[in-house]
Amino acid sequence: MPHVITQACCGDASCVYACPVNCIHPTPDEPDFGIAEMLYVDPATCVDCGACVSACPVGAIVPGHRLPDASERFADVNAAHYGHVQDGVARFPVPHDKRLPLAPITKPRAVRGGPDVLDIAIVGSGPSAMYAADELLKQPRVRVTVYERLDVPFGLSRFGVAPDHTSTRSVMNLFDDVARHPNITILLNTEIGRDISLGDLRSRHHAVVWAGGAPTDKTLAIPGVQLSGVQSATSLVGWYNGHPDFIDAGPDLSCERVVVIGNGNVALDVARILTADVDELAKTDISREALAALRSSSVREVVVVGRRGPAHAAFTLPELIGLADGHARVQVRPEDVEGISADDIDDSTVAAKIALLHEISMNEFSQGPTPAEPFIRLAFGRTPVEVVGDGEATGVRFVRTGTEVEETIDAGLVLTSIGYRGVAVPGLPFDDATGTIANVAGRVVDGDTTVPGMYVTGWIKRGPSGFIGTNKTDSGETIANLLADVEAGVLSAVS
Ligand SMILES: Cc1cc2nc3c(=O)[nH]c(=O)nc-3n(C[C@H](O)[C@H](O)[C@H](O)COP(=O)(O)OP(=O)(O)OC[C@H]3O[C@@H](n4cnc5c(N)ncnc54)[C@H](O)[C@@H]3O)c2cc1C
Ligand SMILES: NC(=O)c1ccc[n+]([C@@H]2O[C@H](COP(=O)([O-])OP(=O)(O)OC[C@H]3O[C@@H](n4cnc5c(N)ncnc54)[C@H](OP(=O)(O)O)[C@@H]3O)[C@@H](O)[C@H]2O)c1
Ligand code: SF4
Ligand code: SF4
Repeated sequence: MPHVITQACCGDASCVYACPVNCIHPTPDEPDFGIAEMLYVDPATCVDCGACVSACPVGAIVPGHRLPDASERFADVNAAHYGHVQDGVARFPVPHDKRLPLAPITKPRAVRGGPDVLDIAIVGSGPSAMYAADELLKQPRVRVTVYERLDVPFGLSRFGVAPDHTSTRSVMNLFDDVARHPNITILLNTEIGRDISLGDLRSRHHAVVWAGGAPTDKTLAIPGVQLSGVQSATSLVGWYNGHPDFIDAGPDLSCERVVVIGNGNVALDVARILTADVDELAKTDISREALAALRSSSVREVVVVGRRGPAHAAFTLPELIGLADGHARVQVRPEDVEGISADDIDDSTVAAKIALLHEISMNEFSQGPTPAEPFIRLAFGRTPVEVVGDGEATGVRFVRTGTEVEETIDAGLVLTSIGYRGVAVPGLPFDDATGTIANVAGRVVDGDTTVPGMYVTGWIKRGPSGFIGTNKTDSGETIANLLADVEAGVLSAVS
């Protein structure tokens, strides 16, 4: 049975390079890599060698005959990427040899020129920082110092990834390996801009790579968001993951219904955690304070509301499958998916999402009486216009997107989950429109001028999108340019 990539895939492409028969796509040099929601094994070509399993840092690849029930759907999802699945049979209209070649495996080349020992600072220790460090440490004469403001490393892989996503969180083992390299030093509890100025940092190192992430959330500009009982998903995630900045962000869970505005993967994470079996959560890394609060929670329903229709839902297919086939109880009201057919949609990932939403709309939670156990409702096509309430939020008023039809959904807790945002770093040019440090392919730029010795990577470079593994290719680009600048003699000039 061919191997199958499942929900935990975070797109770092390690498996691509391990596969001897080029059957995992898209590869980083194929056009759709940047927008793919996961990678896929071609079942027609896989020779079941298992090499990809050892390469995957998050245990996302499973031999077909060992797929757990909750992941069975992923066999079709992998096959569908290469053609069609009809009546459970995968068909392959695109001959394998017509596809783009395997992503080239390039042996790291020793960088020439520049100082004998290259001393590089990285600000932050999240995924983008650790992938950047890994790339730099392939050069024997590089020394890396990582500066992290918190007392524990690895950024959102520790404080963002949901506690019940234990496979994904295991990517921290990979970062631990990088941290064990003899040429890296990680300084915790050290905030650049507070404990050390950026100017000092730049004078101490040949180059600085800023990998500080996008730590704040986008604010929803509607009346009522300041009411008590409204908070960002960012703060809720920080709270249940024990982030020191959000210790006091515990929500009031004495209400029966929660509304989540926005339907990206973060919205699904918070909805899942608020409705999860607390005894199962107790086996995870969730903060003990959050666990205690969830144990006495009165929440029975979490409504996740997207402003656009189901075909434009921001959550990804692997996460929807995880929700539908995992422990969650999920409801989609039939009228929310009425008139939209998977058959009319060319994009196989979107078509699969629509088909699954239709399937959910036929399940017991959607067709039967209101479930007794906590459940999640996925709602679409509603634009929020006001949080209603007098001092305390009591609900959200929406209009049906594109119409003037109004609807108020009552709720005692309102979570805004409309995306993250980078914050400006004093002394560095900031692009306010995108919330990123201004850069071209990782080189910081001020207008038309490159700022020598200053680089960026991760969410503060490209904006708050993509998976953990996306930062690997992103950091690869930044570090390639940094090393090219070493060879061009640019860095030694600022040391
Ligand atoms: C809630 C949530 C859940 C997610 N779940 C998943 C998932 O399940 N799977 C997946 O593939 N992707 C997931 N992602 C996406 C993934 O976490 C991001 O792609 C990734 O973490 C971005 O990495 P980064 O290094 O740019 O930023 P971050 O991970 O935010 O790291 C930035 C680091 O910089 C530090 N820092 C900031 N400023 C300073 C300073 N001045 N001095 C010193 N240190 C500083 C911060 O403390 C932090 O440690 C999730 C994202 C979120 C928000
Ligand atoms: N398991 C995982 O792999 C995982 C888990 C968590 C996060 N992540 C990744 O981390 C990134 C961030 O996730 P995210 O969920 O924070 O962001 P996101 O995917 O960008 O979703 C943001 C949501 O907010 C909505 N929105 C934005 N502005 C709005 C407004 N003014 N009013 C109403 N709705 C608004 C968007 O709607 P529109 O689409 O209409 O703009 C969208 O539904 C994503 O790339 C995500 O995939 C991955
Ligand atoms: S099992 Fe072997 S052939 Fe199949 S996808 Fe993995 S590495 Fe490729
Ligand atoms: S996480 Fe990386 S190695 Fe694992 S399946 Fe996804 S792309 Fe491949």
